[in-house]
Amino acid sequence: MIKYDPISAEILKNEELRQLNEMELIASENYTSIDVQTALGSILTNKYSEGYPGKRYYAGQEFTDQAENLAIERAKRLFNCKFANVQPLSGAPANFATLLALLKPGQKIMGMSLSHGGHLTHGSEPSFTSTVWKSVQYGVDPETGLINYDDLKKIAEKEKPDLILAGFSAHSRSLDWKKFKEIADSIGAYTMADIAHIAGFVATGQLENPLDHGFDVVTTTTHKTLRGPRGGLILTNHEDLSKKINFAVFPGFQGGPHMNNVLAKAIAFNEALQPEFKTYTKQVIKNAQTLANELKNLGVEIITDGTDNHIVLFNCLSSFNIGGKQAQLALEQAGLSTNKNTIPNETRSPFDPSGIRLGTAAMTTRGFKEAEFKKVAELIDQVLKNPENPDVLDNIKNEVKAICKLHPLPH
Ligand SMILES: Cc1ncc(COP(=O)(O)O)c(C=O)c1O
Repeated sequence: MIKYDPISAEILKNEELRQLNEMELIASENYTSIDVQTALGSILTNKYSEGYPGKRYYAGQEFTDQAENLAIERAKRLFNCKFANVQPLSGAPANFATLLALLKPGQKIMGMSLSHGGHLTHGSEPSFTSTVWKSVQYGVDPETGLINYDDLKKIAEKEKPDLILAGFSAHSRSLDWKKFKEIADSIGAYTMADIAHIAGFVATGQLENPLDHGFDVVTTTTHKTLRGPRGGLILTNHEDLSKKINFAVFPGFQGGPHMNNVLAKAIAFNEALQPEFKTYTKQVIKNAQTLANELKNLGVEIITDGTDNHIVLFNCLSSFNIGGKQAQLALEQAGLSTNKNTIPNETRSPFDPSGIRLGTAAMTTRGFKEAEFKKVAELIDQVLKNPENPDVLDNIKNEVKAICKLHPLPH
């Protein structure tokens, strides 16, 4: 509780109420446990720990070393790998540091285009990754929304990138790690997988681990399906790369790690190692498939016609004749928190694209199962058929609030 700053206390209270009363359907969000929050809000935030366990620059590292070693050991167990760097402040810094470790400035990366579901840091034009490195982008087939691996191979053979980056922020199908690796090997490129969205599924064996297919490096955020604090993580099985990665994270790209966050990661990794977490991630996928099917039954155009993970991407323009900006706003007014998103072959601006991206990770944490997600599909349909009707939106908001009350936040 914030005691001495009433303005800040009010902001925090209001955000807590918002989280309580709204359905969180943003695919990159989740609700952390009270232990994770306790570590984040702890006195570890006071401590500077530049360097690595046993080799720091400042005194007083007895317990920070323990915290970091614990997080590293648990990360290695969770992802069945030999080396882990738990210091990246978030997903974008993890990606940047990895590229810095593997490539010289001016070399070439090949990642999925932002408008087809990739992330900014995969060499997208506004990102610094396309300033430091040459960038070539691949996309998905406009008809199926899936990656065409023959096309990917052709681009790779023509462009000869030094690193191929597999991963996404808005794609609902599994990637073929084996094919990525074969293509990269055929041109002598590094393989990097960014599993930020699907880390929870990889950790629990619901989806394949790119490291098991020989990927050189895996990066991830720790806060999406992995349900930890907002942070980044870099994994590899190669000792030589792990040394380069450590040097790239610190002193190459970051200063002191946030040790409150490192301990919170250790806690989250331990939570993810428990059998209940596997049950949770299975339910997240079942819920997403239910949501996609239900929306499809209501006539909604689902990109890729379904999902293998927690993401459901749909075309609100073709389905409801409204753009993503208006759809996101109407859904928010009804207590459904989502985000507008580009879809493959997008013809509109990213500020008002044709799609809406949904995710089931957060509400599954609050105990939603298939029945609740069927209801979510109905509510979305009602909202998007009446985006300018305040009475309908108000009624749905009340209904959402009542359902949320039955499913409190984890603490
Ligand atoms: C695939 C992917 N990589 C990296 C990031 C960046 O993570 P952060 O926002 O924590 O920097 C995201 C964020 O959404 C993402 O989806």
